[in-house]
Amino acid sequence: MAVKFYQSENQVPLEMHKVRVVQKLTLLPVEQRLKCIQEAGNNTFLLQNKDIYMDMLTDSGVNAMSDKQTAAMHIADDSYAGSETFNRYKAAVKEVFGTDYLLPAHQGRACENILAEAFVKPGKVAIMNFHFTTTKAHITRCGGEVLELVAKKGLLPQSDDPFKGDFDLEELKKTIEAYGPENVAFVRVESGTNLIGGQPVSLENMLAVADICHNYGVLSVLDASLLQDNVYFMKTREAQCKYMTTKQIYHLLADKMDIIYFSARKLGFARGGGITSHNGALIKSMMEYIPLYEGFLTYGGIDVRTIESITEGLYESLDMDYISHGPEFIAYLVKELDDYGVPMIKPAGGLGAHLNCSEIVPNLPHNQYPAAAVGAALYIAGGIRGMERGTVSEQREPDGTERYAELELLRLALPRRVFTLSQVKYCADRVKWMWDNRELIGGLQWVEEPKVLRFFFGRMKEIGHWQEDLVCKFREDFGDSL
Ligand SMILES: Cc1ncc(COP(=O)(O)O)c(C=O)c1O
Repeated sequence: MAVKFYQSENQVPLEMHKVRVVQKLTLLPVEQRLKCIQEAGNNTFLLQNKDIYMDMLTDSGVNAMSDKQTAAMHIADDSYAGSETFNRYKAAVKEVFGTDYLLPAHQGRACENILAEAFVKPGKVAIMNFHFTTTKAHITRCGGEVLELVAKKGLLPQSDDPFKGDFDLEELKKTIEAYGPENVAFVRVESGTNLIGGQPVSLENMLAVADICHNYGVLSVLDASLLQDNVYFMKTREAQCKYMTTKQIYHLLADKMDIIYFSARKLGFARGGGITSHNGALIKSMMEYIPLYEGFLTYGGIDVRTIESITEGLYESLDMDYISHGPEFIAYLVKELDDYGVPMIKPAGGLGAHLNCSEIVPNLPHNQYPAAAVGAALYIAGGIRGMERGTVSEQREPDGTERYAELELLRLALPRRVFTLSQVKYCADRVKWMWDNRELIGGLQWVEEPKVLRFFFGRMKEIGHWQEDLVCKFREDFGDSL
């Protein structure tokens, strides 16, 4: 647990690892940053990594691997069927979750595709604390509807509630009864709710959801992609978990939930994914889709070397020294920004720090995409790439009207074991500058708007000339500095 410093003013989160492989970074001059973001259609997904100083787009597939993970990649058993690598993957899943069955899939959304194909039919509903972009897209593609029942506290930008990802349990019961259990495809608990600030769900709440599902005979599904951060918060914020081992928590969840799936781009510091369960019959009902969409049952579209890295990474996801690093760095960044007065989602959650853009640019309406505008402004300010998690990340209603996001967030992800504390401080400093100059930030409008998952490749342009004004102000304040 956190190491205490002798001089309290020196207290910072301390890494329990050292860096042995490095990658060179560049920081372009501000005029070039302006050009890059405009060429990218003001969509940070369309920036080139070579033009970025701090890539805080995501924590997915960009976590630093350990020495043991890269070493494990050398012993991969490259065979189409029956590879020893897959047996080692299964053994790691058994160790972490205690489950016997495992279906490999190439990443988290591939698991979601398979769940949707197997269980979602037109007219069925999938109930969840909060949706994730790809989850919702797969469910609606199969004709289902997504219902979100996060407790009201989850949508309050600032709160001191430790578990803002919790389900509203009374609403869950009422909703299952209103629709009829036979019309519920499944209830999905998203650990570490991605779109509302990486906020955790308590163990108590997850277990209660599983019990409710069990009582109504409805399938319970845990999206464990962000479970390692969530387990850290359970251990540090929930009294009953304090003296439990991380493994006990993972096992308890797996014992109660019917199905667990995960993106190993997050859980396990690697790439790939998987679906696991104690229930062989449930696994069988999904099995046929693996060779159809992914690959044979012992590789599921994942390269064997990567499977070895997941295997080792899963063991590491039990280790508090490793899993505390992300949440502690995020808490540090959130505190720095909060002290500067920047409106942040609080308390700090997992996966990244989240700027509350509705308060940063309160005069920008949803249809000028405030979170995307703040994202573009921060890239101009510091070569820092965040991710829009607001209205652009929503999908339009079937009748074409805009669906405004509950929260307009810019997420600054902290890939695990990647950044140093001085880089985190640089980020806080540039956000502070942007905050002080927030009255310069204007809106965006669509130039190209794809119908599906538009946030990935849609293009926008500035309304007016606010981005050029921001560059002039940068030069005034920073002189010839990068
Ligand atoms: C909670 C959650 N579920 C599912 C996914 C999808 O995983 P992947 O990116 O591996 O497809 C993500 C990815 O960010 C996620 O955060």
